[in-house]
Amino acid sequence: MNYPTRVKIVEVSPRDGLQNEKQVIDVSDKLQLINDLQLAGVKHIEVAGFVSPKWVPQLDDAKAVCAGLVKEEGVHHSALTPNLKGLDAAIEAGIEEVAVFTAASETFNQKNINCSIAESFERFAPVMEKAHAHNIKVRGYVSCVLGCPYEGAIDPKVVAEVTHKLHQMGCFEVSLGDTIGTGTPLNAQKMLGLCADLVPMDQLALHFHDTYGQALANIQACLELGASVVDASVAGIGGCPYAKGATGNVSTENVVYMLNGMGIETGIDLAQLVKAGQRISEVLGRQPNSQVALAIG
Ligand code: HMG
Ligand code: MG
Repeated sequence: MNYPTRVKIVEVSPRDGLQNEKQVIDVSDKLQLINDLQLAGVKHIEVAGFVSPKWVPQLDDAKAVCAGLVKEEGVHHSALTPNLKGLDAAIEAGIEEVAVFTAASETFNQKNINCSIAESFERFAPVMEKAHAHNIKVRGYVSCVLGCPYEGAIDPKVVAEVTHKLHQMGCFEVSLGDTIGTGTPLNAQKMLGLCADLVPMDQLALHFHDTYGQALANIQACLELGASVVDASVAGIGGCPYAKGATGNVSTENVVYMLNGMGIETGIDLAQLVKAGQRISEVLGRQPNSQVALAIG
């Protein structure tokens, strides 16, 4: 066992979470969520996506969300930027960290960002160059690392190649997305192991959606190999509009509870985190999708 002593949690609820909600969420509610997360000690928050509003109307308020952010010491706000247009908007909004996103599945990539995997790298090259010229860090995402809604099984070697390429291009961290949550622990370990042969383990992030209830088991299996960055969404909200049936990310409350029990530090106050999840769940008109939140709340 090679468990880390500390895990960096990347909270994706304002973006991955709210991008998939049918109802329009007010900017003020998004800002309240971000503030509540900061109050709970969350240091890495993906706050918005500068994507085409024709593709994801829910994220059309990225500029307004960024304008209302309260910058707290030690907190990092990031945003998705699929192309130069997105990056320019993010720079104008004062964002200090952005993320490019591609997939290990050609079909998913076409549906999500309207280009092939190879074309996505061509598109990202000038984004990386300009971002770095502005001292903006770039994260990379690989979707469909353990299955694709269109192509089914995905070769983990392809995942490792795409991950390696993003890292070589200059991504400081690459997040491995189990977009439709079909992964299971041993497959997750195999895929992560192949990626870690090419990219340092501490620069790989785990991004599990909990569609099949496997996320926590997968995370535990990957922590065993030494992974130390976990993406999660408070109250388990989320999903991808281009992956039918994909439900929310693993809930941050469940992850923090598990890590607390394992003696692994996160710097997050679980009670405050539960409150953050309850508040956004009230806005969404439903219960948090998190057993820990329900048990504590
Ligand atoms: P396209 O249609 O090929 O782009 O979309 P285009 O360059 O031909 O432009 C078409 C129109 O969009 C133009 O407007 C552009 O100006 C505009 P028009 O002239 O027709 O009025 N446009 C933009 N507007 C705002 N911001 C931009 C932007 N770019 C172009 N950045 C594109 C290509 C990539 C833009 C589009 O496919 C897109 O925005 N896709 C994003 C989809 C998305 O956000 N998906 C969810 C996030 S990914 C995810 O959830 C997975 C993840 O969580 C990990 C996991 O779980 O697997 C990260
Ligand atoms: Mg996701």
